[in-house]
Amino acid sequence: ESTTEVDISAIEPGQAIKTQFRKQPLFVRHLTPQEIQAANATPIGDLRDKQTLAERTKEGKNQWLVTLGVCTHLGCVPLGAGEGENKGPYGGYFCPCHGSAYDTAGRIRSGPAPTNLQVPEYVFSSDTVITVG
Ligand code: FES
Repeated sequence: ESTTEVDISAIEPGQAIKTQFRKQPLFVRHLTPQEIQAANATPIGDLRDKQTLAERTKEGKNQWLVTLGVCTHLGCVPLGAGEGENKGPYGGYFCPCHGSAYDTAGRIRSGPAPTNLQVPEYVFSSDTVITVG
């Protein structure tokens, strides 16, 4: 299986990019301190798919959220990984197909999607490059 290297050096805090991994959309988001705080302040009991930000990111790198850009409802590409795109009511991603809203940790918060945006296998190959797959 092929891996994908992503240079994350130009992604500013508050910004997310959309790239590709094995022909699927891949989102890489650089969280601001406020977005990290929002994710950590959410009671786990409020979540449909109960995961903490720490469980969805790498230790010491909680500001980097790497997910597939594939809505877990029926597979549309959510908005929020481009300039001016609608991040939805929970500040992460918003799926325009049937209105699933994801939070700043990519966790499903409202709408029909059953689970959080999937976090693929990846490693930090350096401080500025991740290798996915
Ligand atoms: Fe995203 Fe239905 S495919 S809400």
